[in-house]
Amino acid sequence: MRERILIVGSGAREHAIAAALARSPQKPELLCFGSAVNPGIEILCVEYATGDVADCDAVMKFANKERPRLAVIGPEAPLAAGVADALWAAGIPVVGPTQSLARLESSKSFTRDLLQRYEIPGNPFFQRFTSMDGVEAVLAGLPGRHVIKDDGLAGGKGVKVCGDHLHSMEESLAFCAELVEHGRSFVIEEKLVGEEFSLISFCDGKTLKHMPLVQDHKRAYEGDRGPNTGGMGSYSDADGRLPFVTEEDVRLAGEINQRVAGAVEEACGRPYQGILYGGFMATRDGVRLIEYNARFGDPECLNLLTLLETDFVAICRAIVEQTLADIDVLFRGLASVCKYVVPAGYPDSPRKGDVVLLPGDLRSDTRLYLGAVDVKGGLLVSTGSRTVAVVTMAETITEAELICEAFVTRIEGPFFHRADIGTAELIHKRVEHMAKVRAA
Ligand code: AMP
Ligand code: GLY
Repeated sequence: MRERILIVGSGAREHAIAAALARSPQKPELLCFGSAVNPGIEILCVEYATGDVADCDAVMKFANKERPRLAVIGPEAPLAAGVADALWAAGIPVVGPTQSLARLESSKSFTRDLLQRYEIPGNPFFQRFTSMDGVEAVLAGLPGRHVIKDDGLAGGKGVKVCGDHLHSMEESLAFCAELVEHGRSFVIEEKLVGEEFSLISFCDGKTLKHMPLVQDHKRAYEGDRGPNTGGMGSYSDADGRLPFVTEEDVRLAGEINQRVAGAVEEACGRPYQGILYGGFMATRDGVRLIEYNARFGDPECLNLLTLLETDFVAICRAIVEQTLADIDVLFRGLASVCKYVVPAGYPDSPRKGDVVLLPGDLRSDTRLYLGAVDVKGGLLVSTGSRTVAVVTMAETITEAELICEAFVTRIEGPFFHRADIGTAELIHKRVEHMAKVRAA
């Protein structure tokens, strides 16, 4: 029988998920429940509905009407809200963890505690707080090298890093006080120094299949300056590694993902079936864990699913049936570069409603992924966040970057992108930085 697959979410990540599913020789019927109409996804779907993706009832109304045989959840909000639980309860298997397992992402302290309890390496020093009691002493013990994190999901706005966002003890105390005032629990942890990378794994609860390493770029402007964003672009290398990580870094990150999958199953009493995203820092003392996400990264997903060679429908089936050990998961042996085009003013005061002219045909051009867009009067318009992503592949990162840049610059209008992502110069800077960190 033809697979009938529901995709929950409608950003560029879900566009990449839809495109990878649509490439399958099984020719699945795709359905989407998204927060907006993404024309890139819509042309691949037989049915499309919009609503609040974190509203279990709204998603289930659509799912019960359409009866998919499989669902793939893209964003974190529906996972944290228990949409996977509701789908499984209705007999629809899901790629994406249930609410309890998704605490790996939705609670920073849950994850830190889990690593500690199961003696999994990678934790920096950390402590959880619900009031100001003891805060000053812990901050004083980590002068100039602490990070303060809202314990729950905060859309990327809940983390403040000393030196980047916090510049004095007063500012750190004020941020903690603000969190207490809003009734939020928070974690203070040691600031890690090094280079960040993502190791994302397909996970059926028993078996993990790791994907190539990817590096995201969080800062809005070139040279890693400006405010933090959802991620301005990313690259991966032809050998699945990154130029600044060691073999031991890769091995340990893989081991941490593997052990976390086992620990979280034991803690929650149910297997983790979905995408397990480890956000790591390569440091002088080896790999440390920054965070877990219970889903694909955005933009990392765009690199990874563009490179994926194996039938993604078969992988999703194997995840829900716990047969991942039986299939080979292969990626093209190429480097990839992804760059996002974003509205002027993004992320703090982005322009909205500008017409987006694509430099290629959405149906045939596999390099284009649509993000925060809408269709008005037959025209594609921006809605104020990461708008269009371009992903290119080549033998080397530098070659992929040149092709990507040539394509991205053809998207005209009041938008900008980071020209430096994937350039030889920036990679050299990363390698030099890591060499300096390791030598310190
Ligand atoms: P998170 O929401 O946990 O992904 O944190 C957002 C960003 O804050 C990460 O991508 C890092 O750049 C930074 N960050 C988080 N935790 C730490 C840490 N312990 N040390 C240094 N940077 C961190
Ligand atoms: N690229 C980081 C994230 O998706 O959270």
